[in-house]
Amino acid sequence: MSQSQSQPRNTQPETSLMSRLTALCKRRGFIYPASEIYGGLNGFWDFGPLGVLLKNNLRDAWWRDMVLCPPLGPDGEPLSIVGIDTSIIQHPKTWEASGHVGGFSDPMQTCRKCKKLFRADHIEDMLGDAEWVKSFADAMKVGAAGTLQLGGFLTGQTPFDGVAARQWAQKQGKKAAPGLALVRNPAVTLSWIDEDMRADPAKTFSFMDLLRYVATEQKNVTGLQTPCPNCGGDLTEPRQFNLMFESRVGAVEADDDSGKVYLRPETAQGIFLQYKNVLDTSRVRPPFGIAQVGKSFRNEVTPRNFIFRTREFEQMEMEFFVPPEDGMKWYEFWAAERMRWWKDMGLSEANLFRHEIGDGDRAFYSAATADIEYKYPFTAPNFGELEGVAYRTDYDLKQHQTFSKTNLEYIDQENSRRYLPHVIEPAAGLTRGVLALLCEAYQYDESRASPEWLKLKPSLAPTKIGIFPLVNKDGMPEIAEKLYLDLRRTYTCQYDAKQSIGKRYARMDEAGTPFCITVDGETAKDNAVTIRDRDTAQQERVALDQVRAYVAKKLTD
Ligand code: GAP
Repeated sequence: MSQSQSQPRNTQPETSLMSRLTALCKRRGFIYPASEIYGGLNGFWDFGPLGVLLKNNLRDAWWRDMVLCPPLGPDGEPLSIVGIDTSIIQHPKTWEASGHVGGFSDPMQTCRKCKKLFRADHIEDMLGDAEWVKSFADAMKVGAAGTLQLGGFLTGQTPFDGVAARQWAQKQGKKAAPGLALVRNPAVTLSWIDEDMRADPAKTFSFMDLLRYVATEQKNVTGLQTPCPNCGGDLTEPRQFNLMFESRVGAVEADDDSGKVYLRPETAQGIFLQYKNVLDTSRVRPPFGIAQVGKSFRNEVTPRNFIFRTREFEQMEMEFFVPPEDGMKWYEFWAAERMRWWKDMGLSEANLFRHEIGDGDRAFYSAATADIEYKYPFTAPNFGELEGVAYRTDYDLKQHQTFSKTNLEYIDQENSRRYLPHVIEPAAGLTRGVLALLCEAYQYDESRASPEWLKLKPSLAPTKIGIFPLVNKDGMPEIAEKLYLDLRRTYTCQYDAKQSIGKRYARMDEAGTPFCITVDGETAKDNAVTIRDRDTAQQERVALDQVRAYVAKKLTD
């Protein structure tokens, strides 16, 4: 066998992995832009037929492993975790108590030229991705990570080339970055660079510094400016912008605030509000957990990276209530357990990272926080958040106790004491988890019938089995249909009799279907079918009465 036949050919095409994955997701009915026929709505996505199956499978795996059959605790004891489903809209005081009304905001900057809004802490990243910045970097013959030497400019030893900068401004810059000071007034803007070079000829500065120079028209008045990622224009000072979506309940006038409510920005607070009812009505006592899966809404300033940061998304959160003295023990337990779980869902160890958040960077009430991060294609070689595990102390219960004037203490009769439990919160993104699964599963191999295919963990795959008659005659469809009607009672199956067998395999590979069963001319004689494995493309002959056992075994492997 030649090298090219035995090895997958993974020469990646020109387009970025994320554009290809987004296109595949649309083509195969995983994820569509919301309101697409009206031009879409930024930050909103819809799950199509395969996407909803994949999302539900991940949700069900979480529910099974958190609520129905939670792991054994650190001392080998079975854990007690119950489920709940609370309202998206809660009493507005909830969000005052939780701190979301006062503090759940991002610093925002607006471009004075094109009026676009940006999250202040995202601007540098967005500049790195902006087409006009890439074009300017090319003209200046520097990568974004490179440094330019001001001294070199003065002595004529480049690398900073004022002539090239001016030419770029007059040609590409006019269209690509019309708001940029260098484009609007090149002479004045370049004079700042000149002035600073004379003051300190040996100074080096980064490409980001250069962008600030070319964005600045009045350095003596404003200092250096950071340019707008969209048009290069100047930005306002950062202002706080609350991320909660507002709505109104009842028939209230538009200017009457009495009916103002918020769409929940996290599912967690609904759990705290019902903690006492759960304690009083079920047979749980600390340590115990309450879990919830559901939609959350955040008016994100810069929704981006497909379904990574959206304005409507789903979370899988669990609040684990423990005696105060046991907080750190349970924090360690859950941080390790959640990491293990994501690996079990098929994310590779190399793509996962536990990021311990340092003292200065945690929420003020948190005694410890670990982010479980994934190496998404758009963060690589770095990692981005997938789930947060936070030791929230008794902050939330204390706040709700104060604001509602309801005693939320647990009465421990055995030890004759009462206390507010401490809380460990593993908070995962369901939709963000689907993105991580898709990124991990995406494969490119030109030697296959479908170069793009999804290597999803079989138990999470939207469709488990494709069932085909080899040809649509000679009794084959009848056997295949019978098999389909039987298997679909247990597994999501797709019956497909159209086009060549190769094309049918290719369709199933793109959908991530782990098994394809073909009924052929021999089946009527030997009562057996071929089962093709998605990952190896190997085929096995399996007796018809063994098909169920074969699939069941593979799905639990
Ligand atoms: N109750 C704690 C809490 O909500 P968070 O870190 O803000 O913590 C938890 O959110 C998880 O929810 C994140 O790790 C992420 O997976 C997901 N998430 C948060 N904001 C999101 C957004 N705008 N779009 C998609 N997922 C998001």
